[in-house]
Amino acid sequence: MGNSLIDITPSGQACGATIRGVDLTAPLTADVVAAIRSAWLEHHVVAFPDQAMSDDDLERFTVAFGGFGDDPFIAPIEGRAHIIAVERRAGETSPLFAENWHSDWSFQATPPSGTCLFGVTIPPIGGDTLFADQHGALDEMPADLRARLDGKMAVHSARGGYAPSGMYGEADQRSDRSMAIRPSDEAMATQLHPIVRAHPETGRLGIFGCIGYMIGIEGMDDDEARDLLVELYAWQTRDEFVYTHEWSSDMLVMWDNRSVLHRATGGYDGFDRLLHRTTIAG
Ligand code: SIN
Repeated sequence: MGNSLIDITPSGQACGATIRGVDLTAPLTADVVAAIRSAWLEHHVVAFPDQAMSDDDLERFTVAFGGFGDDPFIAPIEGRAHIIAVERRAGETSPLFAENWHSDWSFQATPPSGTCLFGVTIPPIGGDTLFADQHGALDEMPADLRARLDGKMAVHSARGGYAPSGMYGEADQRSDRSMAIRPSDEAMATQLHPIVRAHPETGRLGIFGCIGYMIGIEGMDDDEARDLLVELYAWQTRDEFVYTHEWSSDMLVMWDNRSVLHRATGGYDGFDRLLHRTTIAG
């Protein structure tokens, strides 16, 4: 399946597609960028296997899709201002990074439209990344739950993760984590976003973000908001909305933070895992 420029194979799951017939180690023409963008908007997650990309290639690809996002709380890899390493060594014992569902940096005023993740060292088992389609989740949502969310603004914050007291805060800094996480008081800031939101490019309605970075609902009592966000989370991460992505080395994945949630999984103890990541400016 596909068009005349690229070959697109849908995953057959809730979202996701594999794209072949393009060389990401060379500059892309405007037509090919447009074809990939169209597939990305349709499938939300696109994977490009067998791309022996360098960090230069990853940066060039990211720029072609909108330029670099602003990546707080994680130091970039040496010599690169916009690439972070998502890394876990074979013997590491710290809690898995990004194991909770989220939309990248949804606590920012203008969160990244997308994220690019390139598989450098991929373990032989485990380490899948899960994606949950938030257009499908809204389309299928029971009317009573939808009625309680329509028109509401969620309060987003990085505090639960990256504040000194957060999951990756001071206590975590004493662990054996290999990732260069830099907790900060800046994580205490908050930002409002609509819970039900039109996708800025396609106009399709979806749910933006989830509990974790969502810490409350504007104008709602904390306990009531928490109960509603927990109920929403249970709905938006149901198996029927999920695509399970299996990695291989030299694979690039680009996902749309405006239409999917994602989370990391483990299951590869005893093996190294290393991916290089950029975000695309929103
Ligand atoms: C991420 O959320 O950027 C990492 C996902 C993964 O490690 O699978």
